[in-house]
Amino acid sequence: MKLFITSDYLEMSRKVANIISAQIIIKPDTVLGLATGTTPIGAYNKLAEWNQKGDLDFSLVKTVNLDEYCDLPADHPQSYRYFMNRQLFHKIDILPANTFLPDGMAKDKAAECRRYDSLIEQISGIDLQLLGLGHNGHVGFNEPDETFHKNTHVVKLTEATILANSRLFANIVDVPKFAMTMGINSIMRARKVILAVSGADKAEILKQALTGSITPLVPASILQFHPDVIVVADEAAGSLLKDFLPQIK
Ligand code: F6R
Repeated sequence: MKLFITSDYLEMSRKVANIISAQIIIKPDTVLGLATGTTPIGAYNKLAEWNQKGDLDFSLVKTVNLDEYCDLPADHPQSYRYFMNRQLFHKIDILPANTFLPDGMAKDKAAECRRYDSLIEQISGIDLQLLGLGHNGHVGFNEPDETFHKNTHVVKLTEATILANSRLFANIVDVPKFAMTMGINSIMRARKVILAVSGADKAEILKQALTGSITPLVPASILQFHPDVIVVADEAAGSLLKDFLPQIK
C-alpha cells in the first residue's frame, strides 16, 4: 500500500488525476473503474481540463462505475449516470458506448447484476479502480454487513448513507432506499486501486480501514489484502495515519 498525504483537497485531486492520467498514457485502452460522490469531482475536473488541452486522450478508454441507485431514471439529476455525464463524460472525448453503469431501472435486478459482472469480465476486468470512502467504511455501496458481498448486488442503503446522500436531494424521503453496487470481487480483482479520501470527518474511518481488523463491518478494510493500493488523502483525512503508515512525498 502506498500513501500520499496532500496539503488539501485540490492537491489530492491533482494527485488522483495524475495517477489516472499516467495509467491512460501507459495503456490508452485502459478500463477505469469510477466512483461518484463529492470526493472525485476535483480529479474529474482536472482530467477534463487536460483532455480539453489535448494532453490526455480518452478515445480508447472504457469506464465501469461502481454503483447506481435503483429505480432512478438515467436523466434524473441525482442518478449516477447523470452525475458522470455532467462531471466527466460530456467534457471529454470518451465514446458514450464505452461508459458503463449498472442499469438501476432494470426490471429484473438480479439479472442486471449478473449482466454487469459478465460485462466487467468481457472487457477484461478493471485496470484502475477509483474509490471514495463512506463514513461507515463503505466502498461503492458495499455497506457494513456480516459478510463481504462478492458480486454485483442490490443493497438496502443504511440510514447513515441515506442521510449523507440526502444533501443532494430536495428532501430526504426522495433518496432511493436501494442501490446496485459492484461487489468486492470486481474491486479486489482491479489491477490497481486508488482510494481517495478528503476531510477530517473521514480521518477515523480511514485509519480503521487501513490499520484496523479486516472485517465486513468496515468494508474498505478488505483493501489491506489488495497488492496494489494507492491511498491519496488530504491532510485532514490522513491526520491519524501518520504514525502507522509510511508516506510518499
Ligand atoms: C459512489 C461511491 C461511494 C462514495 C462514498 C464517499 O459511487 O462509490 O462509496 O465514494 O460514499 O462519498 P463522498 O465522496 O461524497 O464523500
